[in-house]
Amino acid sequence: MSRLRVAIAGAGIGRQHAAAFAKLPERFDVVALCDPDVERRRAVAAEFSIRGTTSSFEDLLANDAVDVVDICTPQSLHFGQAMAALAAGRHVICEKPVVGSLADCDALMAAERASQRRVMPVFQYRFGVGLQKLLHLVERGVTGKHFLSTAETTWRRGPAYFATAWRGNLAQAMGGCLLTQAIHAHDALTITLGDVRKVYAATATRVNPVQTEDCAAATLTFADGSLATLAVTLGSADDTSRLRFHFEQLTAQSSLAPYTMTAEPWTWIPANDAAASRIADALADFRPRAEGFAGQFERFHDALTNGGAMPVTLADARTSLELLTALYHSAATGSAVELPIAAMHPAYRGWS
Ligand SMILES: NC(=O)c1ccc[n+]([C@@H]2O[C@H](COP(=O)([O-])OP(=O)(O)OC[C@H]3O[C@@H](n4cnc5c(N)ncnc54)[C@H](O)[C@@H]3O)[C@@H](O)[C@H]2O)c1
Repeated sequence: MSRLRVAIAGAGIGRQHAAAFAKLPERFDVVALCDPDVERRRAVAAEFSIRGTTSSFEDLLANDAVDVVDICTPQSLHFGQAMAALAAGRHVICEKPVVGSLADCDALMAAERASQRRVMPVFQYRFGVGLQKLLHLVERGVTGKHFLSTAETTWRRGPAYFATAWRGNLAQAMGGCLLTQAIHAHDALTITLGDVRKVYAATATRVNPVQTEDCAAATLTFADGSLATLAVTLGSADDTSRLRFHFEQLTAQSSLAPYTMTAEPWTWIPANDAAASRIADALADFRPRAEGFAGQFERFHDALTNGGAMPVTLADARTSLELLTALYHSAATGSAVELPIAAMHPAYRGWS
């Protein structure tokens, strides 16, 4: 099996990426780590025996012994760093949100097409076995018509979290709890339920003295006319996530584990005995695979080495960004927003 040589930029969540690569030693070798914060860089390099360290992203790109640049820096840096990494001939893994507008996403997609290299956005929650089972059932048509689903991301973030300068700063964070915390739950809804056609949202900043929203409520209307509600706050007394899907033949509820709600245990409530039997039959050929960051990186390696489909694409990130654009525009204007969002839409180049 060919080993991909990885350079990680950013040693915050980048530490968890390093831990995931370390679980896949036949597939990945992390050869370099970049972070201007010398203490963080040294600590993560020592923990995972990463040989090459630097404070400069440009040094990382100049390193010919790198196949994949894994961007784990604050979000306002992602677009420039991803474009530069592609231009340097590297594959790119990039943390969410990949960029801060549909226009930047389209530019990055064009650069990827021209480059012969691949860009994989990170949406590691997608690979939780509970959510994968639900997708398996939806694909096999046993869930029936979708009625309504709910996504709750109710976490607690206070002064310690916002002590990091870029967080809560609109120019650098590009958004608040919708963009940073709830993006995974909302991605889980849209990959399961399909295209969103209309959004109505309200946001508020009530928990912390920051520029970005820390509470949000929204309704979504999907292409088939079914509905979802989103509820997000950073002022919960504990960290809880919950996805609850209501289909004609099945109600499915995620676990409440805040950062692994897509993993099992899920609660499965078939509408009747016949539905229970069809669901059990459909799950007979379900095979669980690795979850989280390691699950996504393992699939990334498979796609690059076998030429298959990427587990997450820039088109997926674009769907997420289009929903965010609609949510923020709706909250700013107090009106419903219809999707898709065209290039002449006032929020196509950014929502803030
Ligand atoms: N997928 C997830 O579940 C998840 C979880 C947390 C954060 N994130 C995302 O990961 C990104 C980083 O978030 P974080 O919480 O780790 O932030 P952080 O501020 O804790 O860490 C970012 C690190 O990047 C470093 N950095 C800054 N400029 C750099 C540069 N030019 N080159 C290299 N390193 C640089 C900083 O010094 C810092 O150590 C954000 O986009 C965030 O939204 C994703």
